Amino acid sequence: MLSLPIILSFATSLAAAAGLNDASLKNYVNSLDLDYSFNPVKAAYWTDLPHHRRTPFALSPDGTRAFLAYLDDSETDVHVQRVDPKTFAAVGIAVTVKGGKEAGGLVAHNDGFALLTNEALPSGTTNAPADSTPVPVLYRYTEGEQTFKTFLGGPGVHESDGLSASPDLNGDLVYSEKAGIYGAYFVVTDYSGWAEGHFGDSVQYVSTNGSLDALPESSAWGCSHNTGIAFEAADAAPFASICAEDQGDIWLNTNNRGMDLSGTKISNENTTNGAGGESMGGMSGSYSNLARYQDEDSYIFSWVSRGAVDLYENSWMGKGYVASANRTNGRNVAIATFSDKQTMDGEQASSIVGAKDGDSQVNWITTGTADCSNAHVATFDGANALVTWEQIDEPQCDFIAMGCQGEYSGSYFQLVNKGEKIGAPVKSMDTYVAGDMVTMTDGRICWPYVNMTWRLDQPAGAYGGLPSSTTKQISFACISVGDAANASSSSVVSSSAIVANTAAISTSSSTAPSKIPISSPVVISSTAISASISSAKIAKVAHSTQLYSLSLVSLASASATTFSTATRVSSTSSVAAEENSTAVADTAKSQSENCQVQYIYE
Ligand SMILES: *[C@@H]1O[C@H](CO)[C@@H](O)[C@H](O)[C@H]1NC(C)=O
Ligand SMILES: *[C@@H]1O[C@H](CO)[C@@H](O)[C@H](O)[C@H]1NC(C)=O
Ligand SMILES: *[C@@H]1O[C@H](CO)[C@@H](O)[C@H](O)[C@H]1NC(C)=O
Ligand SMILES: *[C@@H]1O[C@H](CO)[C@@H](O)[C@H](O)[C@H]1NC(C)=O
Ligand SMILES: *[C@@H]1O[C@H](CO)[C@@H](O)[C@H](O)[C@H]1NC(C)=O
Ligand SMILES: *[C@@H]1O[C@H](CO)[C@@H](O)[C@H](O)[C@H]1NC(C)=O
Repeated sequence: MLSLPIILSFATSLAAAAGLNDASLKNYVNSLDLDYSFNPVKAAYWTDLPHHRRTPFALSPDGTRAFLAYLDDSETDVHVQRVDPKTFAAVGIAVTVKGGKEAGGLVAHNDGFALLTNEALPSGTTNAPADSTPVPVLYRYTEGEQTFKTFLGGPGVHESDGLSASPDLNGDLVYSEKAGIYGAYFVVTDYSGWAEGHFGDSVQYVSTNGSLDALPESSAWGCSHNTGIAFEAADAAPFASICAEDQGDIWLNTNNRGMDLSGTKISNENTTNGAGGESMGGMSGSYSNLARYQDEDSYIFSWVSRGAVDLYENSWMGKGYVASANRTNGRNVAIATFSDKQTMDGEQASSIVGAKDGDSQVNWITTGTADCSNAHVATFDGANALVTWEQIDEPQCDFIAMGCQGEYSGSYFQLVNKGEKIGAPVKSMDTYVAGDMVTMTDGRICWPYVNMTWRLDQPAGAYGGLPSSTTKQISFACISVGDAANASSSSVVSSSAIVANTAAISTSSSTAPSKIPISSPVVISSTAISASISSAKIAKVAHSTQLYSLSLVSLASASATTFSTATRVSSTSSVAAEENSTAVADTAKSQSENCQVQYIYE
């Protein structure tokens, strides 16, 4: 028997094995007309480089109502527009939340929405912050009417720890149907008390009747100078939370809401001036960075990082804490997964003083020299997730621990299954992620953006940078894994048989012949492949020079009809092979009959 220089394997989710392709992305350009103008660009902290101004997007539990929130072009008043989740067109007119300074988080209900924004307290309020500095506030609207409004900072909120305001609303709002509470996690600056003049963060929970729940899981002051928040609902408080602080770490801090060693250290990050590389998007970020797998207790987190080398003791923090230098010039995309809201899969980041490597435990999605930014993640189902980012292939990174500039080279969309990359990412030059990535009822992941020419080569704004523009149209994009979403649960009658056969064949001889005549097909599987199988994945091609064709052979017709396909692949082009194995599988399905896969070597 011939030995096989390849191993045929089935990924957990079969069709997903092939990864995404251009057909997975669908755009609804300018589908949503706005009643008011919106400025799609927000200048970043420190560098003024352009960021997408966030437009929070949310879908009701029954799937019938979507909502989009956006800041008025005047930079005061937040508008919330109902959106048809099928066409992404407007339904009715916008609700205007007067005085709102930022659209900081949105939850959709079957009868309305809840909005997290920040606004100045009414003039004359005792113990209000100076200069009308805005304070975070949660609004609930039911069928277009305001049903409650609850301040989450300012007088009356955790007074013994000092009063807080949020000049920039960096944070997020989530809601747990099971727990019946809203949770908000946002950056604060204190204007009284021991932390006066400093920046930190706060978690606040609110009941469905609008009362601020002073739960023990709330916090007045957590991570210092937090420049990145990831927050996702759980079935009970505390909700899953992550912070990027200014002392060198990213923490899973669900349990402790702080930045101490009782949390779980996800990553070492080089920091300066309160920044940590805009790991969760920096200004206008902190959304869709942490996602819960559908109907599971597990989570996935995505961020960008320059890596970490040369750990040294952070004496300001004390024993057990380290700071680091960055390994790379540009930022790469990384993910971490969690089996539940407080348990990270794999090891924590190193805290060994003197260690050369501070990032060896990181699961990188990219590893190149490009600068990656604006990373986000959402989940399709219980195992598959979509990780996205933007790229500058030739970045200029002038500022330690901040963003880079350069020619925008595209947005990328990568399928990830249980923490592993599947296939190659899809690239788009004119699709951006600028608002929450939402899992729709049909299993697609959709998000809003503005169709515009996107530039990352100059600062934004008035000081000689990119000219500002406004729009009255929002576009949406959706990514679908199609049948892949359910493939893992479909009846894979022969997958184990195929794997077993493959193993049997590959171990039968230790040397692969350099050339096998194409007329001698090597039949890997003698087991019928049911039409429910949607894809096979070529995991490994052992010989770089081997060429093969992949054929699907009908068992029904004894003549062994070859439906498709003639493919040349090298060891490095497993992606190409995957694409074609998908084509084969699609043919199998369309034939609705039992078939057989043959790998033929030339
Ligand atoms: C609001 O709900 C909370 C939690 O269910 C309850 O403790 C509180 O008494 C309620 N407040 C009002 C005013 O009904
Ligand atoms: C960050 O990295 C730079 C090198 O790029 C280094 O000079 C600086 O000390 C690091 N910052 C910290 C807080 O360690
Ligand atoms: C560290 O990052 C800065 C930007 O934050 C960059 O200028 C520098 O080149 C990086 N260092 C290395 C070793 O790549
Ligand atoms: C999207 O925007 C780009 C750049 O402004 C423009 O060239 C293109 O025509 C727009 N696409 C559509 C479908 O409107
Ligand atoms: C996945 O299966 C569920 C029920 O098992 C079904 O409701 C859903 O439409 C399926 N999704 C896809 C993308 O096939
Ligand atoms: C897939 O197979 C077709 C022939 O069926 C071929 O034309 C195409 O180039 C192959 N694609 C790749 C990426 O190898």
